[in-house]
Amino acid sequence: MDLTGKRAIVTGAGQGIGKAIALKLAQQGADVIVDDINPETAPQTVREIQALGRKGVAVIADVSKRDHVERMIKTAVEELGGIDILVNNAGIARSNVLARLKDEQWDEVLNVNLKGVFYGIQAAVPSMMKQRSGKIITISSIYGRIGAIGDVNYAAAKSGIVGLTKTVAKELARYNINVNAIMPGLVDTALLRGIPEKYLKPMIEEVPLKRVGRPEDIANVVAFLASEDSSYMTGAILEVTGGWNM
Ligand SMILES: NC(=O)c1ccc[n+]([C@@H]2O[C@H](COP(=O)([O-])OP(=O)(O)OC[C@H]3O[C@@H](n4cnc5c(N)ncnc54)[C@H](O)[C@@H]3O)[C@@H](O)[C@H]2O)c1
Repeated sequence: MDLTGKRAIVTGAGQGIGKAIALKLAQQGADVIVDDINPETAPQTVREIQALGRKGVAVIADVSKRDHVERMIKTAVEELGGIDILVNNAGIARSNVLARLKDEQWDEVLNVNLKGVFYGIQAAVPSMMKQRSGKIITISSIYGRIGAIGDVNYAAAKSGIVGLTKTVAKELARYNINVNAIMPGLVDTALLRGIPEKYLKPMIEEVPLKRVGRPEDIANVVAFLASEDSSYMTGAILEVTGGWNM
């Protein structure tokens, strides 16, 4: 999983899974653009990347806004000289049962979790097409396959990532660009801590490996998909769930 000299962008990399991905890519030798909407957390991830001896640059950009995403891509080209790896990780949940789900909750989640992925890929691809290589990895969720009570907007967006990934994989294969997605199960981050204990405990009991995932468990698979070790994979949706809902 050697990434020496590779140039990566990770969205939502101020904390949680995105931060673990950014640090893992840097450990494997990549320079990393650290995007987040939160101006407090992104610079901390950058400091940890620099401590690993790699270049890190913070970009405060909202993935649901086209002009922000275009600025993020421009920064990557200017600061790193190009883009080899794009990781669409930024994601949010706005939970509510169907009957009470508001338009704003639907729009917010779809805009960040699905439109944000579209914006990121569309903006990054011209640079990858020119160099005839690239790796695009998007963080979906197991809820995109199995659904989840109270998360109709989130599950719809995460399921939409499957169709988007497979279509883009087909369109970009002739440019030697690999496009894959990961469906994490339960991963120990702020997002998971938002689930009440009474719902979370029985879910963890159903996980064959009997634990929640660590952000690093997802980051390791991203590093594999970002490396040449996975060069014959495209359009794949990898489940990283400890066996939950296999
Ligand atoms: N934690 C889990 O159990 C789990 C399971 C399946 C999938 N996921 C997915 O993994 C990804 C990361 O989630 P996490 O658990 O690390 O959550 P998290 O809330 O800890 O981190 C998400 C990060 O994204 C940033 N962000 C939010 N909206 C943004 C926007 N519009 N533009 C840029 N950055 C934005 C946040 O500021 C935060 O730093 C998400 O796509 C999530 O849906 C998480």
